[in-house]
Amino acid sequence: MSIDFTGATAIVTGAAHGIGQAITYGLASRGATVWASDIIEADPTDDPATGGRVVRRVVDVTDKGQLASLAAEASADSGRVDILVCVAGGVRGQVGQPIEDVAEEQWHAIYEVNLKGAFLSAQAVVPGMKAAGGGRILVISSGAGLGVSLTGIQAYGSAKAGQIGLVRQLAHELGPYGITVNSVAPGLVRSNPDSEAQWLAMGDERQQQLVESIPLRRLGQAEDIANAVMFLVSDMASYITGQTLSVNGGR
Ligand SMILES: NC(=O)c1ccc[n+]([C@@H]2O[C@H](COP(=O)([O-])OP(=O)(O)OC[C@H]3O[C@@H](n4cnc5c(N)ncnc54)[C@H](O)[C@@H]3O)[C@@H](O)[C@H]2O)c1
Repeated sequence: MSIDFTGATAIVTGAAHGIGQAITYGLASRGATVWASDIIEADPTDDPATGGRVVRRVVDVTDKGQLASLAAEASADSGRVDILVCVAGGVRGQVGQPIEDVAEEQWHAIYEVNLKGAFLSAQAVVPGMKAAGGGRILVISSGAGLGVSLTGIQAYGSAKAGQIGLVRQLAHELGPYGITVNSVAPGLVRSNPDSEAQWLAMGDERQQQLVESIPLRRLGQAEDIANAVMFLVSDMASYITGQTLSVNGGR
């Protein structure tokens, strides 16, 4: 299956490393101009040569004004934003605790970036997509939003479930404008310090049990997640909307 994004403009949030980085390179290597944004700076000299272009910007997805500026700059450059991929999220350094010990700020920190961030990012690009007559919005949710989270973090499981609800609702609202809205739900990927710590904390025996519970007998990699995203934001997926695709080796 060959997918070509030549001439397309994409915004990726949470693009500095891990899954967002893999999605950025996947889009750019297929010809897209990618506005790769993150709250932390990424070194553009680390970016490999691609068929397209990677433009790095520091943007906080909890800040509506910063997202509006990003969308305006991207569409001034090429006339429109065709694709938005919301990756910014994660557990923000937290670990599972009994509910009675969770501070309200911890709850909010995870909700802000995962759920409000996806909402505000979509809000920033939708007017342009409507004017252009179509677009693709893709949210990286999680298996934690479909079942019980391995992290044990209440806010994470519920914010990820919230993202899946947001995707369903936006698909319904934006379908008449030719805008598809879908989500990819990864299983555990050792793509960031938090998921690496989670993996190490399991110890040998539980790690082995986890891998053996996965029909494809391995953990996913950032590129596995990016590959699913490439399909869902391509023309080939023009009749798919409101869906959440689990990319988890079958577990
Ligand atoms: N790694 C996993 O096991 C796994 C599993 C399921 C879902 N996910 C989801 O995949 C996404 C990417 O995860 P990852 O593993 O690549 O982790 P990651 O921590 O590398 O990715 C999250 C990115 O979001 C950025 N970010 C954080 N707050 C932000 C903000 N306010 N504004 C903009 N950017 C911000 C971070 O700097 C980071 O680059 C997350 O949404 C995560 O919840 C990850």
